[in-house]
Amino acid sequence: MNKPIGVIDSGVGGLTVVHELMRQLPKEKLVYLGDTLRCPYGPRSAEEIKQFTWEMVDFLLTKDIKLLVVACNTATAYTLNELQEQLSIPVIGVIQPGARAAITATQNNRVGIIGTEGTIRSNAYSEALHTIKSDIVVNPLACPAFVPMVEQGTLSGEIATKTVAETLLPLKYFSDMDTLILGCTHYPLLKDVIQDIVGPQVTLISSSEETARETSTILEVNQLFNDELEPCYHQFYTTGDVEKFTSLTKRIFNSSIENLKSVSIEKVVI
Ligand code: DGL
Repeated sequence: MNKPIGVIDSGVGGLTVVHELMRQLPKEKLVYLGDTLRCPYGPRSAEEIKQFTWEMVDFLLTKDIKLLVVACNTATAYTLNELQEQLSIPVIGVIQPGARAAITATQNNRVGIIGTEGTIRSNAYSEALHTIKSDIVVNPLACPAFVPMVEQGTLSGEIATKTVAETLLPLKYFSDMDTLILGCTHYPLLKDVIQDIVGPQVTLISSSEETARETSTILEVNQLFNDELEPCYHQFYTTGDVEKFTSLTKRIFNSSIENLKSVSIEKVVI
């Protein structure tokens, strides 16, 4: 089916999922919306997160998407169930895939979880992990400084190292952690710095790969694969500054994104 896959995030973090979708599903067209203007979602109330997420979804529905990927853990934690209930297209979140990947990776059942305040407060990862494996020992930690830092383009260097080291200090007391879930799609952009701080004995889990795999499965089951032979045309939208978004996107993808347009989702009628 020749319709695009819709992907949403509060900002640039969801592009880590887009990157993996492009790699695993090179024939699929993607339409991405990052709500950069209102990022971060992490400190916001459940009501605000739900409202903003629905506004993004309503915008993407005007693009006639065949499947929605909620590439934001915070939005997944608060809206996945109702999106799945209310939309007539398949909806995939990033928390279940991340939890599955962590269970596969851990050898000793001691899993750290880092995410936004909203994601950690929701307990969604702990619940997802315990549903799959009841004896997993988890240590959740909110990292409110990471998303604003990534959105500013600080992905490495002295400031990034200092911020990550200070924020992750409490994990030092969680002995023998062998797996750490990067429970926010912005965090893989800080992966090298995080790995340096926690050490090579800890496996970092980003849900992007597993989410792209699940997307592929759902497309197959529902016979939604793109059967067109023409090259893919992806569209990227941001509610914020196009230049800033473009330059960060170039850094993430190592290439330019030509179809970037600015859109104000506040104007979308809900
Ligand atoms: N990428 C979003 C997530 O995965 C970022 C959250 C935010 O905007 O605070 O949770």
